[in-house]
Amino acid sequence: MKSKETVPSNPVKIQDNTFRDGHQSIYATRMKTEDMIPIAEEMDSCGFHAMEVWGGATFDTMHRFLGEDPWMRPKILKKYITKTPFAMLIRGQNLVGYRHYADDVVRAFVDKACEIGIDVFRCFDALNDFRNMESCAERIKANGKQFQGAVCYSLTGVRLGGEVYTLEYFVKKAKELEQMGADAICIKDMAGILSPFDAYDLVSAIKKEIKLPLHLHSHYTSGMASMTYLKAIEAGVDVVDTCLAPFALRTSMPAIEPMVAALRGTARETGIDLNKLLVLSEHLESIAPKYNNFLSNNKLSIIDNGVLAHQIPGGMISNLTGQLKEMNALDRLGEIYEEVVQTRKEMGSPPLVTPVSQIIGAQAVLNVLFGRYVRISNQLKDLVLGMYGKTPMPIDQELTKKILKNYKRGQEPISGRPADYLEPEMEAAAKNIGHLARNDEDVLAYILYPATMEKFLQTKYGISESVSA
Ligand code: CO
Repeated sequence: MKSKETVPSNPVKIQDNTFRDGHQSIYATRMKTEDMIPIAEEMDSCGFHAMEVWGGATFDTMHRFLGEDPWMRPKILKKYITKTPFAMLIRGQNLVGYRHYADDVVRAFVDKACEIGIDVFRCFDALNDFRNMESCAERIKANGKQFQGAVCYSLTGVRLGGEVYTLEYFVKKAKELEQMGADAICIKDMAGILSPFDAYDLVSAIKKEIKLPLHLHSHYTSGMASMTYLKAIEAGVDVVDTCLAPFALRTSMPAIEPMVAALRGTARETGIDLNKLLVLSEHLESIAPKYNNFLSNNKLSIIDNGVLAHQIPGGMISNLTGQLKEMNALDRLGEIYEEVVQTRKEMGSPPLVTPVSQIIGAQAVLNVLFGRYVRISNQLKDLVLGMYGKTPMPIDQELTKKILKNYKRGQEPISGRPADYLEPEMEAAAKNIGHLARNDEDVLAYILYPATMEKFLQTKYGISESVSA
């Protein structure tokens, strides 16, 4: 990459994540649609490759905390943003909820998401078991939208390599996505553990084998992500995800402004107007007082050095700390770190991403406090049963037997696609919610969040009677 004045021959494309992952990462997903509207048209004119505006935790927080109908945000923003494609993050068979849903729900959800204006679906599975993305992918393609297959980045040790997460593993996963008909591939580094030189090797290897556009999504958590992006850009990555500065850094994405400035005058210049971004950032600063109290400010450091030491994502650590506090055992945090590593290994070395990170973390706490696998959570039993999919490494047979002993859902692990074991859900749910649901959007939302959505729909339609009446 030359640093002298050159004509940009291969501009780096930017996906802006300010309206989704940005505030999800540092402001507890609390940004209101009304605060996006004033800058929406200006954002549309920046020349972003895409804007991520929906998915992840937005569906949950919008109805639970913001009093907004989750389906409305893309519809509203589409009035102001007419050129830039809309992206969403979707957890495969998990959609935007907290369990695996049956295929009829997945199909209806994706169809509806297409209808309300989502153009690009970044689809991932916590175990990198892409069978959990098949139903999503089929509907995305059938609707003529973009299926971006994401592979969760994880590590065996401190760097790429070792027993599971090798260069070959990720290249193989990217090829699987290509075979599924992916329109683009994404390396999803949700914990910010991809180091710059590993990114260079990883991007080079995937670009060599696969001709599809390659995206890199990384979090700034450990402080490496801006360096990681630069090395990935050198290696030929096509698209990187950033946020406007007030919604960037910390556990969010790298900021766009220094990225645009650093690439000026190079072959990979972005073509995005820095002055425009500065105006937009200034506007966001003016709404900052509203969101500032969601920012965790109990540390001076904006990076999480712990991630560099043990690769355990910050969100998982705060969950662990919370559980230990409840059990009056905060002094055992050190032991828990070691136990997380051990438990994860025994459970087939899955990537530490929601919901698997919580399952492993919670079990590690039980293991330390009550003895190893003396008390076992039902979620862990489901994981061992195969209901979340196939773990990257097999789980030891003896341990499997012990964990599934007398489990009511089954004692023999399944080997098929998990959703094949789920009964259709739409009809029963529609019946259950009855007249409170006025359309498919209401029914789907109710399936995803039964308790809180019931309350939300009552408020939405000005009804206070009980659903089952
Ligand atoms: Co993210």
